[in-house]
Amino acid sequence: MNMTNDNGSRFLRACRRERVDRTPIWLMRQAGRYMAEYRKVRERHSILEIIKTPELACEVTLQPLDAFELDAGIIFSDILPPLEGMGLDLEFTSGEGPVIRNPVRSTRDVEALRVLPANETMGFTLDAIRLVRRELEGRGVPLIGFSGAPFTLACYAIEGGGSRNYLRTKQTMSATEAWRDLMDKMSTVVADYLVSQADAGAQVLQLFDTWAGELSPRDYKNKVMPYTKSVIEKVRQAGVPIIYFGKNMNGMLEVVRELGSDVVGIDWRIDLDEAWRRLGDGVAIQGNLDPAALFDPWDELKKKAKVILEQASGRCGHIFNLGHGILPKTPVDNVRRLVDYVHGTEVQKT
Ligand code: CP3
Repeated sequence: MNMTNDNGSRFLRACRRERVDRTPIWLMRQAGRYMAEYRKVRERHSILEIIKTPELACEVTLQPLDAFELDAGIIFSDILPPLEGMGLDLEFTSGEGPVIRNPVRSTRDVEALRVLPANETMGFTLDAIRLVRRELEGRGVPLIGFSGAPFTLACYAIEGGGSRNYLRTKQTMSATEAWRDLMDKMSTVVADYLVSQADAGAQVLQLFDTWAGELSPRDYKNKVMPYTKSVIEKVRQAGVPIIYFGKNMNGMLEVVRELGSDVVGIDWRIDLDEAWRRLGDGVAIQGNLDPAALFDPWDELKKKAKVILEQASGRCGHIFNLGHGILPKTPVDNVRRLVDYVHGTEVQKT
């Protein structure tokens, strides 16, 4: 059910490395606490309530699109709810962030994980995608669907929350069979969820691999990459561009390139031109302003944005974004100025 009326949008064109008049821009975690409109909804609803009520998820998805001239929406959800469908108990606590009360700690726990179709477990997000697409159709703004990548989801499943050094996860990686079974299950769930989002109307799909950069290139390549790559290959059937975003992966960009995504998201710890040189011309790049730069006085922020546009130097396939999610206290005025500045800058012809 992919309606293609906004196929000519800047964002979709850039994903396909076609020429654009202005660089498209969206911001990871663009719906969130830095916006008063979001905080207002949060006064009355928990984050899981918002995610599980399609009308609320739709409302929150549209908030940043109403406030700024962004070139794409991203469906409001989180990477963790699919773990509930697998049998894990997820909670968002105000102090600790996400917590899983029954983490995966044994071979038996891996065996007990359920692999169900996203239609059964994530129907609320698929319905929210349908609602948002109806709202966005007339505006020509495409919608991004997303999932956590198998490794990052496995980290949360095993650690039960965030972690300082991912010791339990890394120990599980050394238990060959348990790791293979766990990653097989994660990969099946993730691929099915992404294809279902495209079926519901998502026009681009992003994989968030927030913790993959904790691994050595060798471990990533041997024990993680084959699964992520198989997800990307399976999701190809959906016929939409795929973005892979990992954090702290600048030591292994060549390996990341082998995943075969259409777009690679990069963080701010590397210059965009250097990242592109290492990834090669055959891929689009998304990034890479330090989210903290949005707290700078406008003149300083503008200089930082300019450097990124100059480093892209008019090549096809640059999508402006942050190097990670927008921070909770980000000044809204700077977000507006940044979006307008990126749109006000003509893409140099090279
Ligand atoms: O980008 C968007 O606007 C879509 C929404 C979105 C959320 N989470 C909503 C959210 C997306 C794409 C995510 C992805 C996500 N969630 C990631 C991958 C990207 C990244 O930032 O690394 C990860 C690791 C998570 C897990 C997660 N969710 C954490 C660690 C936390 C707590 C930390 C925090 O920022 O509060 C969340 C909660 C969360 N997910 C919030 C939002 C808006 C804030 C919760 C709130 O409203 O109180």
